[in-house]
Parts: sequence; C-alpha cells; structure tokens
Amino acid sequence: MPVRFTQEIFLEEYEEAELDPQSMELMRRARSASEQAYAPYSEFKVGAAVMLESGQIVVGNNQENAAYPTGLCAERVALFTASSNHPRSPFLKIAISAQKSGQAQVEVTPCGACRQAMMEYQNLQNSPIEVLMEGTKGKIYRANSVDMLLPFKFSSESLK
Ligand code: THU
Repeated sequence: MPVRFTQEIFLEEYEEAELDPQSMELMRRARSASEQAYAPYSEFKVGAAVMLESGQIVVGNNQENAAYPTGLCAERVALFTASSNHPRSPFLKIAISAQKSGQAQVEVTPCGACRQAMMEYQNLQNSPIEVLMEGTKGKIYRANSVDMLLPFKFSSESLK
C-alpha cells in the first residue's frame, strides 16, 4: 500500500456584516483598487490590498497588456509593491476583490502563480497570511493561511 499524505483544507464563508471591521476595511480598499484596474482586454477588474503588521495598507490591481502574458495579477502587484516598499515587514492579510461590468456573478480565487508568491512571503515571515476573497455574489471567503490555497507547496526548503 502506498503511504498517503493528507492536509486539511477549509475556507470560511462570511456575510459582509459578520466580518471584523479591520478585515472589512481591507476589503473595501481592495474593492476600490479594483475600480482602478487596467483590464481593457478581459474587463475582469481585480483589486488587492495587503495589510502590514503596522496596520498600513498597500494596494494593487491587475495590469494587462496587448501582449497578454506581459500583464500581472492584482495580488502580485500588491504583494511586490508592499515588499519593495516595506522589505521584511510581515503581511497580516491580503484582501482580493473582483468585478466584471455587466456580470453579476463574478467569483475570484487567486491564480496558482499568485498563491506561490503569497507562499514565499508567508514562509519568509514564518507566520500565516490570511486571505480574504470576494466577487460580486455578496459573500466573503476567508482562508486563515496560504496553506489552505496551496497544499504540498514548493518552497526554498526544496532548493537546499
Ligand atoms: N486576475 C487577477 O488579477 N487576479 C486573480 O486572482 C485572477 C485573475 C486578472 C489577470 C487578468 O488581468 C484578468 O484577471 C483575467 O484573467
């Protein structure tokens, strides 16, 4: 019999009114960042807001390009901006908000590359980064750690 490795994965679903005020403020910042996204090709506008240990918030949004793969997701724009301006300052949470005009039922969870980017910072700081996600269905999803989004991760440990 093969050895079987397991990892418990769960997400929590909240109504806006149930979320703590600090997380809700972060989500509002992600929401307003999504309005400034440069997404003329997909029209899928995403905003991300990172909360630093100090409580300071750094935002980003998706930046598209006529040469499609050149563009970057909102999460990585926010994470890289936060890390470049506040090196080694731990990230407590990241909120992600997506919208597409004329489409009421948008959902968002980060792409694989953004999960990997989040994991890099979580490993570096050695404490969990909470991930809050919303589309336009009126629910907010919360992962208490990037581990919930990226099981069996690849990390710098593998390079040793
Ligand atoms: N996108 C993000 O910015 N974040 C996500 O979590 C999912 C996808 C962007 C990339 C691209 O500009 C557009 O949404 C459509 O994929």
